[in-house]
Amino acid sequence: MRYPLNSQLSWSDYWQTGAAQSLQAHSANPIKQFVQTYFVSKLQRQESILDLATGNGALLQQLPDDHSGFCVGVDYSEIAPSAALRQQHHFSRMDGSNLAFPDESFDWVISQFGFEYVSREEGIKELCRVLHAQSQLLLLCHRKDSLLCRHSQQQLMEGRCILDSGLFSSAWQWCQYADTDKSDRAGLQKLMTSLMKEIRLPKDSSLLFALLQSLAKLLTDVQNDRVRGESAQKIIGQWQSSLLANIDRLEQQVEVALSGADQKRLVESIRQEGFKAKTVALAEQGRPLAWGMYFSRG
Ligand SMILES: C[S@@+](CC[C@H](N)C(=O)[O-])C[C@H]1O[C@@H](n2cnc3c(N)ncnc32)[C@H](O)[C@@H]1O
Repeated sequence: MRYPLNSQLSWSDYWQTGAAQSLQAHSANPIKQFVQTYFVSKLQRQESILDLATGNGALLQQLPDDHSGFCVGVDYSEIAPSAALRQQHHFSRMDGSNLAFPDESFDWVISQFGFEYVSREEGIKELCRVLHAQSQLLLLCHRKDSLLCRHSQQQLMEGRCILDSGLFSSAWQWCQYADTDKSDRAGLQKLMTSLMKEIRLPKDSSLLFALLQSLAKLLTDVQNDRVRGESAQKIIGQWQSSLLANIDRLEQQVEVALSGADQKRLVESIRQEGFKAKTVALAEQGRPLAWGMYFSRG
């Protein structure tokens, strides 16, 4: 089931929190190593770079300090790169399937867990158009059977379970009642116990644990008159929206991740545009992590 959300908004919300990257595991060594070998060490100081679906510029942060070429990160969401990055680089809001750059503008297009989100055919057409005849392309894409995707699937299952349990609406209703009638001191305890019974999640669900802890604290504050029920309702509303946005991003990630066959098709389509390809199945301790792809033409 897809929760009804505008996907651009869920990413915009995420980047506005100041997050440096989309997943902690992005800093995993094999991924960094791939970027170092096939991008950073090949890059010439003056070469121009387009970072597609840049987010808050995680990939651009790995550029060497002495790089002086034109560098732009584009994303279709509203992003919030750190001030340090903004001084050196340009950022622009645009869709990867419709790039507002002239033909042959760049020496490099790079994309870390971004290109797979863009419509495939238009995306390939656009990146081939903006790259010139002697250019290079680096793509890191999610892989369906990877640790990252399995982790996302687990989080997705937990998030949906919490949303569908009625946890938020029960707590919200309790807050309304708490403002007008303070007599039921056992109400909070009963509510928490019944919610715990309703949610059938693995005992070690970190998402549920964190949420219940925060919720219990908030509701106790309401009961002890430290927070008004009305204010708590707003906070609960924000938590619910944030969980919805999280679920939306995870659903996208799981949906766009490439199977082995998808990855082969993608490489073949780019080859047909005159690129030579080097693909690496990135792994950590023998377990799949991501697809690394490097292309050069000329
Ligand atoms: C998984 S994040 C990766 C961000 C960043 N490259 C990183 O490694 O942290 C995917 C990004 O793709 C962007 N995105 C999704 N569809 C897009 C499109 N059609 N055009 C441009 N950006 C897109 C999202 O807004 C989001 O910022």
